[in-house]
Amino acid sequence: MSSLQQGNLLELKQLRGGYSEVDIIHGIDLRVKAGEIVTIAGTNGAGKSTLVKALLGLLPRVHGEITLDGKAITKLSAEDRFDAGLAYVPQVANVFPSLTVKENLLVVRGVRKLRQRMDEVLVDFPALVERLSQHASNLSGGERQQLAFARALMPSPRIMVLDEPTAALAPSLVGKVFEMVQKLPSQGVAVLMVEQRARQALQISQHGYILDQGRSVLDGNAQELLNDERMAQLYLGNH
Ligand SMILES: Nc1ncnc2c1ncn2[C@@H]1O[C@H](COP(=O)(O)OP(=O)(O)OP(=O)(O)O)[C@@H](O)[C@H]1O
Ligand SMILES: [Mg+2]
Repeated sequence: MSSLQQGNLLELKQLRGGYSEVDIIHGIDLRVKAGEIVTIAGTNGAGKSTLVKALLGLLPRVHGEITLDGKAITKLSAEDRFDAGLAYVPQVANVFPSLTVKENLLVVRGVRKLRQRMDEVLVDFPALVERLSQHASNLSGGERQQLAFARALMPSPRIMVLDEPTAALAPSLVGKVFEMVQKLPSQGVAVLMVEQRARQALQISQHGYILDQGRSVLDGNAQELLNDERMAQLYLGNH
């Protein structure tokens, strides 16, 4: 491993691929260091979700290299990437509605000392402690999102991948989700987040990448991206 790579928890090199023989993403380079929050923004159809799927092992055809903690994971299945420390919170269907809150937390695969780990995770989600025996279907939208985050934290992942965590939420809950995201680095979890609310997302991020037509057209320090006027006009929208 070269010294240049040191400190990168996650590194994507020249990642390209798609759903068929047509490339949707065209050679994307991206890095996340331990403790960082990194935002991916960009127009609709830019390839953000496709990039996330490539990273998670859910895209049919991928070329390039992905390393997590210096180890190549490019050839691993989605399950093995999960076991290697890559957590994913899907936008919808991220909890089991018919199970209780407690059951949702205890059915996560690959966790040792399940109950002890559940207690540790719940320290940051007091609202869930009061609802442990309720079915997840009875939770409010905000509580459900907390449960999804708590589940994702159960196996002590190295990095959490979020694809538009605020998209389906009432506006009043958006700030709460960003607060949860902001706490993850202090729990030892780095974050790679796709967000339409790019401005708010960059405000809690260290770095950002702007995707357009399957390419990373801009990347850099989050504050610098926020201050870049051309960037604001083209990609940051009104959020
Ligand atoms: N399952 C699929 N099969 C074939 N093409 C797909 C599939 N999913 C997405 N695409 C195509 O890939 C391109 C990128 O889509 P993608 O969902 O990655 O964009 P996005 O940046 O996440 O957009 P949005 O902001 O709307 O979520 C689009 O042209 C889309 O039509
Ligand atoms: Mg998307």
